[in-house]
Amino acid sequence: MFSTSRHIISTYYQDESWSVKLHVFIRSVIVPWRMVVDEIPSTGVLLDYGCGHGLFLCYCKIFRPDLILIGLEPDARKKAVLQKMKDVRIIDNLSEIENRIDCIVVSDVFYAITPDSHKLLLASLTNYLSNDGIFIIKEIVNRPRIKYWFNILHEMLTMKMFGVTEGDSINLLPVRHYGSMLSNHFAVIKGSAIDGGYLWPHYLFVCKGKLH
Ligand SMILES: C[S@@+](CC[C@H](N)C(=O)[O-])C[C@H]1O[C@@H](n2cnc3c(N)ncnc32)[C@H](O)[C@@H]1O
Repeated sequence: MFSTSRHIISTYYQDESWSVKLHVFIRSVIVPWRMVVDEIPSTGVLLDYGCGHGLFLCYCKIFRPDLILIGLEPDARKKAVLQKMKDVRIIDNLSEIENRIDCIVVSDVFYAITPDSHKLLLASLTNYLSNDGIFIIKEIVNRPRIKYWFNILHEMLTMKMFGVTEGDSINLLPVRHYGSMLSNHFAVIKGSAIDGGYLWPHYLFVCKGKLH
């Protein structure tokens, strides 16, 4: 685990500030990224929506080198880091996407935006997914309770105090919130808790069979 983190920092973030390196390193060890990588295809086009500093894109480069990568990130500071990354197309708006995408990954973005806008965002993203595409949400949810409270504390520190993460609020929602929303768009939804061995209540949804 640490060897991949070290490799990522020294290969893709070598010229960044210590705070960026630290942030990326911490995220690389607190999220089970390999379990997300296991669900993505080997070829085609992948969009990482709300990709932050591009950490998951680095995992894609290492473990899925044939993928064509697109990243979208609204935070200007994070985007400045991303723009230095080779072999990743950075877009500002979904409307810049010309052809349907084979795999869309949305990692820890929904919790950072108000739940009222979730349905609209999901509908908009699925529009850009190919009919046989894979849609992946990695989120932190509100169970187990002990991890929920730990996470609230952690996010309050990072989002509110250090301003590391941009977002309107912290919304750790139940699995059923995502399940019911996704069932309007996908025939097959695989949901799994991937928090074993982690302090954060990580949950993974892998969706296929786009409905419309
Ligand atoms: C917790 S970070 C996760 C970053 C990255 N996906 C990861 O898992 O490491 C949440 C990211 O969502 C981005 N974000 C917030 N609102 C967004 C929106 N409406 N659309 C796209 N990204 C958004 C933030 O700028 C931030 O980089």
